Amino acid sequence: MSNKGEKILRQSRSNRFVHWGAAVSIFLLIITGLGQLPLYKRYNVTNIPGAEWLGSFFTTLDLHYIGAAGLLFVVFYHLVYHLVRKEFDIMPRKGDMKESYFIIKAMLTKGKEPDSDKYLAEQRIAYLFIGVNVLLLVFSGLIKVIKNVPDVVLPSGVVFWATQIHNLATVLLIFGLVGHFAAFLIKENRKLIPGMFTGYVDKEYVKHRHSLWYARIKEEKETSKPAKINLSHSQKVVGH
Ligand code: HEM
Ligand code: HEM
Repeated sequence: MSNKGEKILRQSRSNRFVHWGAAVSIFLLIITGLGQLPLYKRYNVTNIPGAEWLGSFFTTLDLHYIGAAGLLFVVFYHLVYHLVRKEFDIMPRKGDMKESYFIIKAMLTKGKEPDSDKYLAEQRIAYLFIGVNVLLLVFSGLIKVIKNVPDVVLPSGVVFWATQIHNLATVLLIFGLVGHFAAFLIKENRKLIPGMFTGYVDKEYVKHRHSLWYARIKEEKETSKPAKINLSHSQKVVGH
């Protein structure tokens, strides 16, 4: 934990890399995936100058593969990184549905919110919802890649279900993203935005909105105090 004046480090470089890597590849996958349906020719989007490529099945498919490679990389990295470090702050907990209701009620009525840990209950639910849909897309997408390999013939039932799941998860993911962006229409949530860019958020905000997390990081800081005192002592010895 490191502090910068009145700011607190919330999103590490690794988390930001995963978030924006996933965001960029998912946007590319949605745009190119819809191109294969093929929606853009039907609705004349391809007549817009500069948007002709959206009507080419092979251009959109190639770009879909590039997006998929990017997404596979960040998903794999994300899972291994947090499993190895045993970091599960964002995994849903028992009672999160009820707690989300109280948080939203408090936001609407300007009442008192329940004390929150690093993530609010609805953020943990949002993570699970987006995460499950991304995993469904990855697994059904891999089956579709195998189907596209020349000379490989998969049972038609497998191809049918992979396509159904791929399409359904696409729609659910888009709903999830609309919800994710809508969350920032609420002023109270906007203080988290700088965290996903610079890593740091306002200390006072953390103190009142994520009080359980604040207490935890304060305690961690205090328990590591002896190490700091030793450090400044050794600095003195070195001649400061
Ligand atoms: C395809 C695009 C995106 C995906 C899949 C995505 C997914 C996620 C997920 C799963 C989380 C963790 C759960 C949560 O806090 O709700 C998160 C956090 C966050 N996202 Fe996104 N996101 C996307 C785009 C964006 C964009 C464009 C912004 C710009 C405002 C943004 C801002 C944030 C912020 C600020 C957080 C951190 C909240 C915190 O510190 O607690 N996201 N995102
Ligand atoms: C956010 C993630 C993704 C979204 C929103 C998405 C969306 C779509 C959509 C809408 C289609 C066209 C409908 C269809 O043919 O079923 C499609 C096709 C396809 N997707 Fe994805 N996809 C995603 C991730 C992936 C991944 C990770 C892979 C590979 C590992 C993948 C591989 C494919 C393949 C091979 C096709 C079929 C091309 C063909 O018709 O031969 N997709 N995707």
